Amino acid sequence: MTQPASSYYQRHIFFCLNQRTNGEPCCADHHAQEAFDRCKAQVKAAGLAGPGQVRVNKAGCLDRCAAGPVAVVYPEAVWYTYVDLNDIDEIVESHLKNGRVVERLLTPPHLGR
Ligand code: FES
Repeated sequence: MTQPASSYYQRHIFFCLNQRTNGEPCCADHHAQEAFDRCKAQVKAAGLAGPGQVRVNKAGCLDRCAAGPVAVVYPEAVWYTYVDLNDIDEIVESHLKNGRVVERLLTPPHLGR
């Protein structure tokens, strides 16, 4: 049976890497690039990268800047606010690898832009 296009990857994580210069909050001011690089490296090291598995992507502003730095995992549509690289490692190990949401890193639902 043909796989629907939406399942080409089992999971997809998008990191906002937006940089602003007007003084408004942005994820790039909170080491988002470093977090993205770490996630990509950890996913690859764990053998999770590729079709049928996990894809790590850059994104522009996801319009939740007040909660930044943020990343979102699909298809579950789970939003994370991370602090450091240990948080990224936990998201990879728990959610991206084993499908367990990291509750302590969930973005507060009311925080948008
Ligand atoms: S700058 Fe990251 S969500 Fe807007």
